[in-house]
Amino acid sequence: MIKIAVIGTGYVGLVSGACFAEFGWNVTCIDKNSERIESLKKGIMPIYEPGLESVVIKNTLAGRLSFSVDYAPHVDNADIVFIAVGTPSRRGDGYADLTYVYQAASEIARHLKGYTVIVDKSTVPVGTARNVYQIIRKENPEADFDVASNPEFLREGSAIDDFMRPDRVVLGVEGKRAEEMLRELYRPLYLLETPMVITGLETAELIKYASNAFLAVKISFINEIANLCERTGADVKDVSRGMGLDRRIGPKFLHAGPGYGGSCFPKDVNALVKIFHDNGMTGRILEAVINVNNSQKSLMIGKIRNALGGSEYGKTVAFLGLTFKPETDDMRESPSLTIIPALVNGGAYVRAADPAGIKEAEKLMPGEVRYFSDPYEAAAGADALVLLTEWNQYRALDFRKLAEVMNGRVFLDLRNVYSPAVVKAEGFTYYSVGR
Ligand SMILES: NC(=O)c1ccc[n+]([C@@H]2O[C@H](COP(=O)([O-])OP(=O)(O)OC[C@H]3O[C@@H](n4cnc5c(N)ncnc54)[C@H](O)[C@@H]3O)[C@@H](O)[C@H]2O)c1
Repeated sequence: MIKIAVIGTGYVGLVSGACFAEFGWNVTCIDKNSERIESLKKGIMPIYEPGLESVVIKNTLAGRLSFSVDYAPHVDNADIVFIAVGTPSRRGDGYADLTYVYQAASEIARHLKGYTVIVDKSTVPVGTARNVYQIIRKENPEADFDVASNPEFLREGSAIDDFMRPDRVVLGVEGKRAEEMLRELYRPLYLLETPMVITGLETAELIKYASNAFLAVKISFINEIANLCERTGADVKDVSRGMGLDRRIGPKFLHAGPGYGGSCFPKDVNALVKIFHDNGMTGRILEAVINVNNSQKSLMIGKIRNALGGSEYGKTVAFLGLTFKPETDDMRESPSLTIIPALVNGGAYVRAADPAGIKEAEKLMPGEVRYFSDPYEAAAGADALVLLTEWNQYRALDFRKLAEVMNGRVFLDLRNVYSPAVVKAEGFTYYSVGR
């Protein structure tokens, strides 16, 4: 029975820990945030992630999953220790902030007993696994351990499924002993014939950044094409479909919208640009991707302003969706955090609804927005309604009812969910991205 300790109980640590327990392994999830651990012990999830609660409760009751604020005795007894702490952008310069990773590494070092594999699951710059090795070696010269890199590709909103049925598992390892232990850990996935990509440490670290950056490239690319569609009378939805059916291109991440956000793409693209710099190179494509994404958010502000007749001053704007994508409560780097404050500064009254993000949004935009759980309540009295995040709840809005409660008849579909004809039939002016 493999014993695992996972450091960090965020979106990645908690989902990984719960799923490893579901594989049958013995897992302790450790976090320095005692509030998080206390609520997890009571079966209360600290994040919104569909399906997570039932996996956590099932495995806790089965005795395979437990939670602790203490590294001891769990790290001491573990065969494998995962580092799954946050690696946010460092304030001011865009480098990945590795403070939490290195803190976790030195604390792990003090508890190692017997052979242990320490695995970076956090997204970290090239060279971090070797630094983690040095930190542990210095802190505990006697320790018997290897360091490996196992980047995580799960998506918030479908994290459990992504973890249980990944497209691939990437393992950066040096030495047979660590490789064998990690292969055994992921053995339950062999049944599903999940491809294993076994590489060196640097390669595994770079695969993660290159993957996220490539998806960000696709998004900025289609957003730029969408803007060209608006000038030329083309329809970006049909352009995406026409492109995506080509199997060399693929249909995913070709949806025009208000720009990418979230806890990963913005910080990871920035961090990869810094990795280029540190190696005497310029990540030219990525710098363009960042510029396009920033200007896409500004374009959305202009689009809303124009739809309101040239100024938002004194107007009421209602937003549906605040999180960076549906099925998560994660507000990190959400386009809403750029678009809404800009309109508030311009004198707009903002009302907003979101199925899971209001609690986080209230912390980040206190006082300037009125929040509602019901979309029609949010829309009441609004001069314009903006669909910002394509939650399922907002995919079949009753435009007749909206027309009754709203002051204006302006609908901005920033996710291209609706057929323009359906919206226009109810007397609304319809705006989209690239159609
Ligand atoms: N969120 C995603 O969708 C996703 C997907 C793939 C990869 N990643 C990467 O995974 C990593 C974690 O992301 P996340 O979104 O789960 O982060 P998160 O911010 O949700 O959670 C991090 C947790 O680590 C805890 N922590 C920090 N330092 C600690 C320490 N020294 N000891 C114990 N606990 C500590 C924090 O209290 C927090 O609960 C990041 O590198 C991220 O880039 C995230």
